[in-house]
Amino acid sequence: MSALHGTPIAPDETGLLARASGIRCVYGGGEKDFTAVDDVSVELREGEILGLAGESGCGKTTLGNALAMIATPPLYVLSGTLEIDGEQIDLSTLSMADVKRHRPYRGRTVAMLPQGAMNSISPTLRIRSLVRDVMRAHDPRVSTDEALDLARERLTMLDMPVRVLDSYAHQLSGGMKQRMITVISTLQNPRLLIADEPTSALDVSSQRMLVEMLLEMVEQRIMSGVVFVTHDLPVLSQISDRLAIMNSGQIVESGPTRQLVEDAQHDYTRTLLSSVLDPSRETRERGRTRRGGGAHPAPESAPEQAARPDEKEVGTR
Ligand SMILES: Nc1ncnc2c1ncn2[C@@H]1O[C@H](COP(=O)(O)OP(=O)(O)OP(=O)(O)O)[C@@H](O)[C@H]1O
Ligand SMILES: [Mg+2]
Repeated sequence: MSALHGTPIAPDETGLLARASGIRCVYGGGEKDFTAVDDVSVELREGEILGLAGESGCGKTTLGNALAMIATPPLYVLSGTLEIDGEQIDLSTLSMADVKRHRPYRGRTVAMLPQGAMNSISPTLRIRSLVRDVMRAHDPRVSTDEALDLARERLTMLDMPVRVLDSYAHQLSGGMKQRMITVISTLQNPRLLIADEPTSALDVSSQRMLVEMLLEMVEQRIMSGVVFVTHDLPVLSQISDRLAIMNSGQIVESGPTRQLVEDAQHDYTRTLLSSVLDPSRETRERGRTRRGGGAHPAPESAPEQAARPDEKEVGTR
């Protein structure tokens, strides 16, 4: 691997990968600011996947943007630091100088896989052009050949079909597109990846493939830790080493996944877990009534998204 892209970094002796402290974010920046993240602190150890869960609007994406140093107006990070690789980075974005100061860390120290990213790629763009554009955005000196060589190397490492690079985005299924975006966002070996709802729009088998790929990427030290954001607690409880539960801009509880799932201390965590994992008696009754009695099996879940013929051609795992 060339010096340009760096080599995966050996684990820190203390085992700590990153510590974010005192993050406060507002939307507005004027007198009527809305506080979306209110004094949040989180830690990740080397090789760890931290699941960030909480209901819609609680501030997960806002926190992810602050950590990935991609907050732009009307979002302002009023305060917060990120300790990583022996550096203490001031996360605040109160001036253009702050935004420029963050440039060297963006995509390299912390990379973001944005919520809904796969729907925002132009359908007429070939994946290879996306690779080139993303790499050049971080370093204009990177040639197209260098960017593509790195992408081929990475796809091979992850047992993904290299010829996807020649496809147009619209030729790929949602699952393949999301896996490609994940590979592209991590070409620079970020220390930390923030994956914002990466599985939410995917069918079950595509979710599994993405989750397996992320685990393999951490194992291969392509990145050293992941903040995995989702509403989907069943997915999170399978993939995460630790969970952080967010409500109204604050982390209300965090701890090892098993401990939180089996013995949540906070009422909000219990409500969140039960609302996902165990529908209320009333809901079950309503379902039975609608289906015409209690003897019928549950309706089939949504049919799996069929693989597109052209994706079969490029191959899936
Ligand atoms: N551009 C914006 N301007 C003003 N308020 C915003 C903006 N974006 C988000 N907010 C508000 O900030 C709060 C946190 O939003 P955020 O998108 O971080 O939540 P979330 O937990 O990621 O939600 P979801 O699960 O739906 O993705 C919400 O109340 C939201 O309405
Ligand atoms: Mg969000």
